[in-house]
Amino acid sequence: MSSGLHTGFDEQEYPHINKGLDGIVAFSTTKSFIDGKVGDLIYSGYHIDTLAENATFEEVCFLLWNDRLPNSQELEDLKAKLIDKRELPESVLNYIKTTSTDAEPMSVLRSAVSMLADSDPTFGKFDEALFMEQAISITARIPSIIAAFDRVRKGKEIVAPLKEGSTAFNFLYMLNGEKPGEQAEKTMDLCLILHAEHGMNASTFTCRTICATMSDMYSAVTGAIGALKGPLHGGANTAVMNTLLELAEQGDDADAVAFTKKKLENKEKMMGFGHRVYKVFDPRGYHLQKMAKALSEETGHENLYRWSMDMLNTMKEEKNIDPNVDFFSATVYYSIGIQPDLYTAIFAMSRVSGWTGHFVEQAANNRLIRPRALYVGEKNLDWVPVEER
Ligand code: COA
Repeated sequence: MSSGLHTGFDEQEYPHINKGLDGIVAFSTTKSFIDGKVGDLIYSGYHIDTLAENATFEEVCFLLWNDRLPNSQELEDLKAKLIDKRELPESVLNYIKTTSTDAEPMSVLRSAVSMLADSDPTFGKFDEALFMEQAISITARIPSIIAAFDRVRKGKEIVAPLKEGSTAFNFLYMLNGEKPGEQAEKTMDLCLILHAEHGMNASTFTCRTICATMSDMYSAVTGAIGALKGPLHGGANTAVMNTLLELAEQGDDADAVAFTKKKLENKEKMMGFGHRVYKVFDPRGYHLQKMAKALSEETGHENLYRWSMDMLNTMKEEKNIDPNVDFFSATVYYSIGIQPDLYTAIFAMSRVSGWTGHFVEQAANNRLIRPRALYVGEKNLDWVPVEER
């Protein structure tokens, strides 16, 4: 029976729209669990605190791809494969060398990942047996793309990847042209662990949606990068740093409390605050806050941490909204000398492990993702010839 409103839906299934798909459960997954009320995050069985204290990014990749931790041989094999795939194909290097030096790093990353497909003879085949090699290859090459573009735009020589060392170590080496110290490597590694996976966020949903059409992993990761880039998702970390730098321009005694209140009065969003799922402090935030405090003190950027705390307290008092993962990560990256517009690309460098894990999971139990829309436009209009409009 059709409804009086001619919605195209049967009366009993008249749609209720959950704007932003809020609260909709679209998939089952073994990749991560989030309890937004108490602030818990689990990757494939392991609490984020346990992983932050004990794991390396490579172990987390294995975990997200296999739903279990690797034994030492498996971990060595994965590390070797990741090292082996670090070099970029000539076509991608040429693109990085010739694209605009003013381009956004996320835009370059998106195009370069898409181009990687052209030099992978297996890419067009939607075949489970190939997915893991593709996931390793994309994960290995994203740091090389980011570092190469950053070097080129600064007029520096591209640094070839090392044939040894962790993802974090090699990335900082390719970025700076010198081997990082133990602390910088550990900081970067922890950031990669904390950003690796997070349920049905916008970019992971995009990745699974592309996978579900039986397209290919390169397309899915390319689409996911496009989704991550937005300031309401991964782009927030760069936006947070821009906010802190805006304060820095006002001098060391800038008033972050007044600044925050003004933003709220103007109905502007404070970047790095709020979350669709967490209604309490983001559990990843504790680790990042600890690092931000220690690093900002060590590197003489105490004002960044002080302003961050003023913003945090003001947001809590005024709106009862807590910071998310992007808030303190900005100060952490800044303190280890990374340029703000690279932060979201570094997020992608980590989250690719979650995206590709979800891709494999989706492919193994696939159904086309095809929701409905409620048409609210007009119907049956008379055709008016173009010259009469
Ligand atoms: N600054 C100020 N107010 C905020 C806010 C923020 N960062 N985040 C949420 N709010 C307020 C909204 O204005 C809204 O208030 P209202 O009910 O009085 O209108 C309420 O909280 C609900 O926000 P809404 O945008 O509907 O929540 P959402 O679940 O759709 O959005 C985010 C979640 C993450 C998109 C949102 O919190 C946001 O834009 N944050 C800033 C960007 C960011 O840090 N993104 C990274 C997320 S990890």
